[in-house]
Amino acid sequence: MKFARVKPLDAILATAKKKSLHPTLGWFQLTLFGIGCVIGTGIFVLTSAGAQKAGPGLMLAFAIAGLICIVAALCYAEIAAMIPVAGSAYTYTYSVMGELLAWTVGWALVLEYAVAASAVAVGWSGYFTGTILNEFFGISLPTYLTAGPLWLGGAPGGFVNLPAIVIALLVTWLLMIGTNESAKVNAVLVAIKVTALTAFIVLTVPKTEMANFNPFLPAGVFGGFGSGIGAVGAAATIFFAYVGFDAVSTAAEETKNPQRNVPIGLIGSLGFCTVFYILVAAGAVGTIGGQPILGPNSIPFPAGSEELARQCALPQYADMLVCSNEALAHVLREIGFGAVGNMLGIAAFVALPSVILILLFGQTRIFFVMARDGLLPEGLSKIHPKWKTPYVVTAITGGIVAFAAAFLPVGQLADIANAGTLYAFMMVAIAVMMLRKTDPDRERLFRTPMLWLVGPATIAGCIFLFLNLPFEAMIVLPAWGAIGLVIYYLYGYKASHLGKGIVEVVDDEPGIMPH
Ligand code: ALA
Repeated sequence: MKFARVKPLDAILATAKKKSLHPTLGWFQLTLFGIGCVIGTGIFVLTSAGAQKAGPGLMLAFAIAGLICIVAALCYAEIAAMIPVAGSAYTYTYSVMGELLAWTVGWALVLEYAVAASAVAVGWSGYFTGTILNEFFGISLPTYLTAGPLWLGGAPGGFVNLPAIVIALLVTWLLMIGTNESAKVNAVLVAIKVTALTAFIVLTVPKTEMANFNPFLPAGVFGGFGSGIGAVGAAATIFFAYVGFDAVSTAAEETKNPQRNVPIGLIGSLGFCTVFYILVAAGAVGTIGGQPILGPNSIPFPAGSEELARQCALPQYADMLVCSNEALAHVLREIGFGAVGNMLGIAAFVALPSVILILLFGQTRIFFVMARDGLLPEGLSKIHPKWKTPYVVTAITGGIVAFAAAFLPVGQLADIANAGTLYAFMMVAIAVMMLRKTDPDRERLFRTPMLWLVGPATIAGCIFLFLNLPFEAMIVLPAWGAIGLVIYYLYGYKASHLGKGIVEVVDDEPGIMPH
């Protein structure tokens, strides 16, 4: 029976033992790594889309999404410390719920990593064209080269987002030749991002005006399932701003004293980002206002929609927060800090590519592990003789990422990425609870506190956010899942190594955490 194809945990752990990486990381490095993965397009760009959905109550949306990520992180911490191998949620599911569900998780993680990488590439493009080309060099690229077509929610006159393609391919090439971000580079980039956000908060929060917060929630708290509006609709979108923290959990095995340091790294980075995000949102909407552009019946136009793109092209709306492609720099320019706004734009320009790199790297690692398990063609996991990287899978993934970034707007890409991520987070929470029942005596370096509360809260939170995504993003997950199942039955089911009775213990898994 398919469900019986469970990869033995002991075989997975033997693989981890063979790696025998020296645990070198402390809580501080882990927290820095987490912040490096997390802060990106979500806060620098999606603040606009979030405001279009929630209005000034965007802060509430950041708090809701942050809380759900924190309970999910507590589940991740237990299972990651216990099964510290590559493949993250895919591997955990394989060992607990079997191959079929593991395949669906691995397949959904494509949305989390690859589509998220596309979203960050589009976000970067906004800052590159706005700050670098326009502000510094006075160059205005034609719209047909900076945005996707209008019918896909791009911009009037839009055709292809060329800068997004270029950055996606550039990062792909760096990964192919074996570039890995060093811990030092990560620390510098985190310092740049945190400095930029701190400057933003210091300059905007004192200038906030109460009038800008009124009405606080023009679309209400709950805009209705599938509508993608209201505070929870915004939470479902800006959940993207927290995506990436799961990379911390994959570094468990390289961590000293993981039972203490992994949860500190996870909760520390998420807690830090949540507080920062709420303050940034308050500063943004409190200074220039965050009211959405309303359509018929006073309902906000959907973010990333053709209607909204048309409205934003009108001169009277051009300066609104909800229309900006470089939300935070725009706010600073509007309130008279043009030079600081440009510095922030440079910070985003410099730091966002590293988020693309981390996401793309995560994607190639998951494909790599799936190919090694026989669920994808083995040719994909071919390692380049000189570069020592899985170059085939990296090139294919990068090509797909660049293609999606070329035509789709950032908000829609982020929503699709969120759908896949929420599914993976939910499966991790289920896996942790199942393992407590089926394997209660196995050593757990970290135990999720109050699991029987935290686990169900994670599952409920993920389902709730999922149902509050716009309908079009929601539907992608089952559609993508159906394609995945067809591929599984046509290929993976027969080719699976486990299905053929092969259980490998391999020793070619480099750690995910850069040193
Ligand atoms: N959380 C990451 C970002 O916002 C993916 O860019």
